[in-house]
Amino acid sequence: MENKAGSAVKPSEMELVRQLEYIRMIREKNDAFEMANGRKKKFYSLAMGCQMNAHDSEKLEGMLTEMGFESTDVEKEADFIIYNTCCVRENAELKVYGKLGWLKHYKEVKNPDAIIALCGCMMQQETVLQTLRQKYRHVDIVFGTFNLYKLPELVATRMESDRTVYDIWQEHKEVVEDLPIIRHFPYKASVNIMFGCNNFCSYCIVPYVRGRERSRTPEDILAEVRKLAADGVKEVMLLGQNVNSYGKNLDNPISFAELLRMVNEVEGIERIRFMTSHPKDLSDELIKAMAECEHVCKYLHLPVQSGSDEILRRMNRHYTKESYMEIVRKAREAMPDITLSTDIIVGFPGETEEDFQKTLDVIRESRYGSAFTFIYSKRTGTPAAVMEDQVPEDVVSDRFNRMLDVLNPIVHEVHEEQVGKVMTVFAEEVSKQNSSILTGRTDNNMLVHFPGTEDMIGQMVPVKIIDNKTFYLIGERI
Ligand code: SAH
Ligand code: SF4
Ligand code: F3S
Repeated sequence: MENKAGSAVKPSEMELVRQLEYIRMIREKNDAFEMANGRKKKFYSLAMGCQMNAHDSEKLEGMLTEMGFESTDVEKEADFIIYNTCCVRENAELKVYGKLGWLKHYKEVKNPDAIIALCGCMMQQETVLQTLRQKYRHVDIVFGTFNLYKLPELVATRMESDRTVYDIWQEHKEVVEDLPIIRHFPYKASVNIMFGCNNFCSYCIVPYVRGRERSRTPEDILAEVRKLAADGVKEVMLLGQNVNSYGKNLDNPISFAELLRMVNEVEGIERIRFMTSHPKDLSDELIKAMAECEHVCKYLHLPVQSGSDEILRRMNRHYTKESYMEIVRKAREAMPDITLSTDIIVGFPGETEEDFQKTLDVIRESRYGSAFTFIYSKRTGTPAAVMEDQVPEDVVSDRFNRMLDVLNPIVHEVHEEQVGKVMTVFAEEVSKQNSSILTGRTDNNMLVHFPGTEDMIGQMVPVKIIDNKTFYLIGERI
């Protein structure tokens, strides 16, 4: 295979060409629809779950836009509805089934020609596919996490036949670069640095639905970041389930710390964030790189999950409370202004009151600026699902509330420490409640509301912090 310049064409480039051809075919049909009906077909896109899914949906939306659909926020006027699903906890799945019930009615009564597509993590589970085949036959297109780039082909196939199109792969075959994309924010963007996860934490479904860990090459990542910078993007979020193992399996191995230093050199990028960082292999080299790179934000999301060594062992996390606290100490020593955040699971099988108290100790000692807190959710197929001593619901919800009683005052205090300071806030959007207020984030990831006008969006604004609302700050321009 050769392209015009005579250099070899990679298979993924061929695949991109194929999909662009499907996009062109669908666009012709959609343009004809617009000529006949005086309006474009509309799509409604919903991303559930984590930032990976949000970023994948940006690509889905980019492809749909190229196909000649226009985006709508009003689901009940859409001709094409796509949910990018999550299955990390049971309630994420229940939400999808609830919405599918509504969509059945929508299709029967309002818009029989509407196309309903489901994709993402939930679709990688055989039990879900069986349920869809039996109970939700009004779904038109189903695909998973490994073949997102095939959306144009699947839409074209569905337009040609009236049968549901299923296309689920069990593993990753190739990364297709340079898909069309609609970024949700003009000035900040996410960049995948790796896909999948090899850690198999015993409660977690992600490795089963996202496959084995694969890193993109630094060249591809840097090319994307440079392109984003040229487009006016000032903040990038580097995404991976465990960024600390980035690059280890590349033909030319490289560490995440080295990658950070390279991204730090890209002209025009003023802020670099990353997630998620697994405590088991967070290196001194990374702390040093964070401290030395002027554009890397002084903020670290470091999921602890539990403070009990016994629970951590059974979670298969490969660190102890002590080694976790050691990272916290080192990070604070290298970057005194750093803010930490975390993920915590309450009610893992076998968790005793004593184990739970150790989680509260970690919260007190780590002094998080924010935390994502979850009630343990049993995921069929994971080792934890068959562990004995599942904790009763009432005990878990009591612990969960007591955890918030410890956590929230700390979050409040950490925010209170900012009052009186002048901080640089990256103005991100106009507040939904009040059009004279802008919202943005500080380097250390605190949310700030301050008076401003739309033209300031995308700028770094010096703001004096004057009040603390626990989960966000109020500022005034100076
Ligand atoms: N790769 C990231 C986390 C991805 S999932 C990491 O390892 O840090 C995001 C969070 O969801 C996890 O950190 C965990 O706190 C939570 N989570 C995952 N599986 C869960 C389950 N079965 N029940 C409750 N919370 C879960
Ligand atoms: Fe899940 Fe653990 Fe992988 Fe995070 S590191 S995605 S919690 S298995
Ligand atoms: Fe993310 Fe949910 Fe999948 S957390 S990786 S969208 S299971």
